Amino acid sequence: MHFTVIVFASALSVITFALDNGLMRTPPMGWLAWERFRCDIDCEHDPKNCISESLFIDMADRLAEDGWRELGYVYVNIDDCWSSKERDQQGRLQADPKRFPGGIHKLARYMHDRGLKLGIYGDMGTLTCGGYPGTPLDKIEIDAQTFAEWEVDMFKYDGCWSNATEQEQGYPLMSKALNATGRPIGYSCSWPAYQGGLPPKVNYSQLGEICNLWRNYGDIDDSWDSILNIIDWFFENQEVLIPAAGPGRWNDPDMLIIGDFGLSIDQSRTQMALWAIMAAPLFMSNDLRTINSRARSILQNKMVIGINQDPMGIQGRRILKEKSGIEVFWRPLSNNASALVFFSRRNDMPYRYPTTLSKLNYTTGSYKIFDVFTDKTTMLKDSTEFVVSVNPTGVVMWYISAPAKPNHHQFYKQREQSRTNSQKSPASE
Ligand SMILES: *[C@@H]1O[C@H](CO)[C@@H](O)[C@H](O)[C@H]1NC(C)=O
Ligand SMILES: *[C@@H]1O[C@H](CO)[C@@H](O)[C@H](O)[C@H]1NC(C)=O
Ligand SMILES: *[C@@H]1O[C@H](CO)[C@@H](O)[C@H](O)[C@H]1NC(C)=O
Ligand SMILES: *[C@@H]1O[C@H](CO)[C@@H](O)[C@H](O)[C@H]1NC(C)=O
Ligand SMILES: *[C@@H]1O[C@H](CO)[C@@H](O)[C@H](O)[C@H]1NC(C)=O
Repeated sequence: MHFTVIVFASALSVITFALDNGLMRTPPMGWLAWERFRCDIDCEHDPKNCISESLFIDMADRLAEDGWRELGYVYVNIDDCWSSKERDQQGRLQADPKRFPGGIHKLARYMHDRGLKLGIYGDMGTLTCGGYPGTPLDKIEIDAQTFAEWEVDMFKYDGCWSNATEQEQGYPLMSKALNATGRPIGYSCSWPAYQGGLPPKVNYSQLGEICNLWRNYGDIDDSWDSILNIIDWFFENQEVLIPAAGPGRWNDPDMLIIGDFGLSIDQSRTQMALWAIMAAPLFMSNDLRTINSRARSILQNKMVIGINQDPMGIQGRRILKEKSGIEVFWRPLSNNASALVFFSRRNDMPYRYPTTLSKLNYTTGSYKIFDVFTDKTTMLKDSTEFVVSVNPTGVVMWYISAPAKPNHHQFYKQREQSRTNSQKSPASE
């Protein structure tokens, strides 16, 4: 009872305005340098991996030639440590001339010529986290203008070395300054991550009006512990976070680390599945030149990408936390469909979890089930007992189509309310 009321209230509060730049109506997808390549500027000893023009060109080539772009992975995003330590004589930021000999504008052109987009990074403080020139209040206009002149498509505004008062002024000011350039530039705000991610310090209505996405929580690392920590924080705070998300405005649990060193195949599927449930931006931070085929096939799974990119843009939720260590997640999707994820926190062996769709609050009917990672299809009546076998730290993910008899009022009980309300929200934005 209680649960349904909360969903209703949250769905209602989605009826607010999103940042009016027309961008990112579904979660943005692409590649971002930070987690994998950090602040490696040692091009002399590590030419292939240092933060340089050639790294971004290599990634762009892979995105364009290896099937990523067609799936939606179009942003190539620079993070910290790209700039010169000095502004130029007109006071503008400039790329490090040794590592980016062609400059950022040329790099943006390179992306655009291949149907890709370029993202860049700045920081609210006097210095970035890595110690490069920041974009404090008095530099906001000139830097926004510079990024627009370079034809940059996205801007991540970090918060190191700034205080709460400056952030309160700076994040909205940058939003205005980007808008004033006339160039649509996707805007990623790290603001909430610097304010603990929760109300009353964080005002998610305001964030949705000024930013396209925002980092709510700490940086991801290349480890399963880091993934678990992020999953726990986002789903423990889901009642606050779900209503904040919608077309043009997304919670960002940080980069995908699939294809790096820290995750098993099952754990990689878990990250992909739960990022899709969360309607999270999908920015890979990995080496696309050497990624193995198993990691690639998880990141290129069309069904999980389709779930992530669902046009209604309703963030999903955790609906069950069993004593056995099994957790169940659910996300409502367009066309009366939905996604379910069964996740195991266990460390022993595959766990056989028995349930029925009606126990998960699906209403009377016969549902078509697509298993996202095995490609198997089955039909299930709401009342039919079934058992899913979930690997340790792994998931089983299902796409569930509408019941076979659509006129019989047969869909997930909570679903009707979320759908009805979300249909109002895009129109009002
Ligand atoms: C199903 O709905 C009931 C009543 O609204 C609620 O108490 C229960 O938590 C829901 N269960 C799941 C798994 O969503
Ligand atoms: C700037 O904001 C106005 C009003 O919200 C909007 O109509 C316009 O599309 C925005 N322009 C850009 C480039 O974001
Ligand atoms: C924040 O930093 C500014 C300097 O940019 C300073 O004037 C102000 O007092 C600081 N505010 C707080 C609350 O520390
Ligand atoms: C949060 O932001 C919204 C939109 O900008 C504003 O209307 C509201 O008053 C703010 N809430 C608080 C508690 O400051
Ligand atoms: C969704 O379900 C409702 C209620 O059963 C039905 O009226 C509607 O036609 C369905 N929509 C789609 C796209 O199947």
